[in-house]
Amino acid sequence: MSISIETTGPDDLNIVDPDTYANGFPHATFERLRRTDPVSWWDETDGGKGFWAVTRYDDLLSVSRNTAVFSNAQGITLEEMEPDDFEARRNMLEYDPPEHTRYRRLVSRPFSRREVMGYEAAIREIARQVVDDALPGSSTVHLDVTERIAKQLPMRMLGKLLGVPDEDGPWLVERGDALLGNFDPEMTDYPVDLVNTDEFRAMPFRSPAGLELYRYAEEQANLRRACPMHDVINSLLQPAVDGELLSDREFKNFFVLLVGAGNDTSRYTMAAGMKALSEHPDQMRDLQRAIGTNPALVESAVEEILRYSTVTMNFRRTALADTELNGRSIRAGDKVVIWFTSADHDHDAFPDPYRFDIRRTPNDHVAFGLRSPHLCLGAQLARMEIRLLLEELLPRVKDWAVDGPIERLRSNFIGGMKHLPMTIETR
Ligand code: HEM
Repeated sequence: MSISIETTGPDDLNIVDPDTYANGFPHATFERLRRTDPVSWWDETDGGKGFWAVTRYDDLLSVSRNTAVFSNAQGITLEEMEPDDFEARRNMLEYDPPEHTRYRRLVSRPFSRREVMGYEAAIREIARQVVDDALPGSSTVHLDVTERIAKQLPMRMLGKLLGVPDEDGPWLVERGDALLGNFDPEMTDYPVDLVNTDEFRAMPFRSPAGLELYRYAEEQANLRRACPMHDVINSLLQPAVDGELLSDREFKNFFVLLVGAGNDTSRYTMAAGMKALSEHPDQMRDLQRAIGTNPALVESAVEEILRYSTVTMNFRRTALADTELNGRSIRAGDKVVIWFTSADHDHDAFPDPYRFDIRRTPNDHVAFGLRSPHLCLGAQLARMEIRLLLEELLPRVKDWAVDGPIERLRSNFIGGMKHLPMTIETR
């Protein structure tokens, strides 16, 4: 049995509407756009000024690497913000070189390949505990694998990495969810397109969660200033070799970004991986055999899970000058949105793109961005996390299947299955 991504749905869905994504990524619509209107104009109904949607792989790379024309410094999500609000909560994704280059240099050290290798034993132990908690003994269990497995690993790992008390993990993740799931009433009391009061518009970060995280970061920094610790927060507060230091605001905004970026992206990718493997039993068996014997196949499976799911659906740039892209005239000031999930299913870049294939080679996906100065800083960590989950979980699974209705995030930014019910027969 092989079940592929749903590509047979309507091809004229509204790609701005967050409700569209509550039914899954609208692949048929993006397929049509790539074929017939690859750089298309979209109006917004909430007062936004509209945007260009860039859907093909090659065009996405042209935008991504051209930071002189396509800027991150005016915001990276679809919604536009008041300049003062934006300035107060601006994070490293929202700068262009050379400011971005400096910022990235100051925060990169704990995320280098070498440092990340040093976390492997601790992350493996967390993965083992998560699997033990979710699948006790040898039996058949029914569970929401997003909640019980995919959410737990990044949450416990991020807490350990940051060096905050374990019991703060759920609190942090709840706030991260509220920030990134800001269209979904299950994730926040303030869905951005549904709440439209003066009180809400005046709120810093457009969400109390952002402000709470900002304050938490301040407390954690003060604790380390009083008594240094061996963790990522401590390392971020130290000067670089040339003596340069992150400003207080830069540190706090980076902390908020980490809590947001480091959680739900990995969670939804791992959930998508479990679903895909349960639907491709032959590949599941090959992967089970590869654990401990063929690390290259495990790594290639991780890349395919990343491509196939591509959960960060888009980021926005703003044109700094009049320019042309695939025959379309873009004016200075226009919003240009690059669609990673669409690019990762472009026939011109990936043969048979809707097929899940753990042996896919080459697999230069854009799930983490590509050829962009903003290439995901947590990419090594996320890859390791997904690999360790596969290595700890798959040997325990005899058989598994989705056994109930899937609930997806209501968001036009992050695509994910927030509830994925499965039956797992363990060994
Ligand atoms: C499967 C999991 C993940 C996915 C799919 C993902 C995806 C992305 C994407 C698409 C970008 C922007 C790339 C661009 O604009 O070219 C990004 C940037 C970023 N990600 Fe991730 N990410 C993941 C996990 C993580 C983790 C675990 C962390 C940290 C703990 C993290 C931290 C960051 C940061 C700090 C940036 C901004 C980098 C910069 O502006 O220079 N991400 N990520």
